[in-house]
Amino acid sequence: MISIDDMAAFCKQKGLVYPSSEIYGGLAGFFDYGPYGVELKRNIMNEWWKFMVSSRQDIVGMDGSIISPKAVWEASGHLSSGFADIMLPCSKCKNSVRADTFLEEKMGKALGTRDLKKIDELAKKYKCPVCGSPFANSSLLNLMFPITIGSSDTAFLRGETTQMIYLDFKLVQNNSRLKLPFGIAQMGKAFRNEISPRNFLFRMREFEQMEMQFFIRPKENKKWFEYWKKERMKWFESLGVDKKNLRFRKHTKDELAHYAKSAEDIEYKFPFGWKEVEGIHDRGDWDLSNHSKHSKQKLTYFDDEKNEQIIPNIIETSGGLDRAFLVFLYDAYDDDKKRGNKVLHLHPKLVPIKVAVFPLMKKDKLPDKAKPVFDMLKAEFACFYDESGSVGRRYARMDELGTPYCITVDHQSLEDDTVTIRDREDTSQVRVKIKDLKEKLKELL
Ligand code: GAP
Repeated sequence: MISIDDMAAFCKQKGLVYPSSEIYGGLAGFFDYGPYGVELKRNIMNEWWKFMVSSRQDIVGMDGSIISPKAVWEASGHLSSGFADIMLPCSKCKNSVRADTFLEEKMGKALGTRDLKKIDELAKKYKCPVCGSPFANSSLLNLMFPITIGSSDTAFLRGETTQMIYLDFKLVQNNSRLKLPFGIAQMGKAFRNEISPRNFLFRMREFEQMEMQFFIRPKENKKWFEYWKKERMKWFESLGVDKKNLRFRKHTKDELAHYAKSAEDIEYKFPFGWKEVEGIHDRGDWDLSNHSKHSKQKLTYFDDEKNEQIIPNIIETSGGLDRAFLVFLYDAYDDDKKRGNKVLHLHPKLVPIKVAVFPLMKKDKLPDKAKPVFDMLKAEFACFYDESGSVGRRYARMDELGTPYCITVDHQSLEDDTVTIRDREDTSQVRVKIKDLKEKLKELL
């Protein structure tokens, strides 16, 4: 498995992901998706939406705003110490580390506490990784990003996409006429002022989430929690992720988020260890009760089975899109020494380019024969045309982006209107009539 730094370099070289604002020196924790990265990312989003929303009758989507007033985040608890990282500042230089990740790496086990005094005791054994000086006392850094609206009002960039779903829950439920149990899904940007963003797309300050809140009757939490654990694992596996690289991990009491009654993560085996890619959370009635209290609005649901107003409980599935992107890349990445190039064995539903069309050479009127083939296919598939360099190099470039099929127009094509289809997985080629090509590709993809 390649290191995370090598993966970042590969992504930059292949037009998948770039460090943001790089010509000005960059900004830690921010990245831009390039031409092929944005296609892969959109395909992941589409597959999530299909799985979670369009293929179901009990879940609808919404798209809430990114900025919201302070009151929202006071009610949700995100401005409290519960949504803060513990920072260990160096006593000499300006460097700070995140206490839990730093100490866990040093001790080789979970920290198991958020008590600042205990953390200061533990930190005495270690030194600042930058200058070797002892640490000063630890402190809390809230993760929310404040911004100013107009000249004075403080608002916040959302720390999770979820909250907008709670705020609009009555409207959505009325409009879509859903009855319990039902879900509301949303994906989009979230922002956290992380102390030490690192590991490329794994810990960013601006990232994307794919979240779904499932509204249920109180006391049905266990049943739906188990249901959503299975469904979410199924999604990763259905898109080709190797089962042995995925696992569940239950949160201990100390690490539960301020809103969660219980939580389990789906973890992936990255080169830097087993790490969370998605959380399944039992949020009880924490959010609706708090928003109800703070906004003085009734956020209840009339349960006509029981003939009473209830506050629904919530089971949340909360995934990181950028982390999912990393999972799919890592699981697909293969440095194929025999072939002499890298190959991304991505699921055909996720690949940035589905079909590439090449004339064997840029002469003998082969491009004139190949271009109409490209025009015919591009309306149907994400398609790419390339006539530069040797055909071997062009196949290699497509392998590196995971393109499952390459169509080559050669001299025989001029005589009998056939082309070859090359398979990314084993480089085998079959010859088909141009008139049958579209159907054949549909079948293959
Ligand atoms: N609504 C619940 C929630 O936000 P979370 O465990 O804090 O829960 C959910 O975050 C998911 O969002 C994580 O599993 C991860 O995939 C992603 N995520 C969280 N912080 C991130 C960061 N700094 N960079 C990239 N992804 C992040």
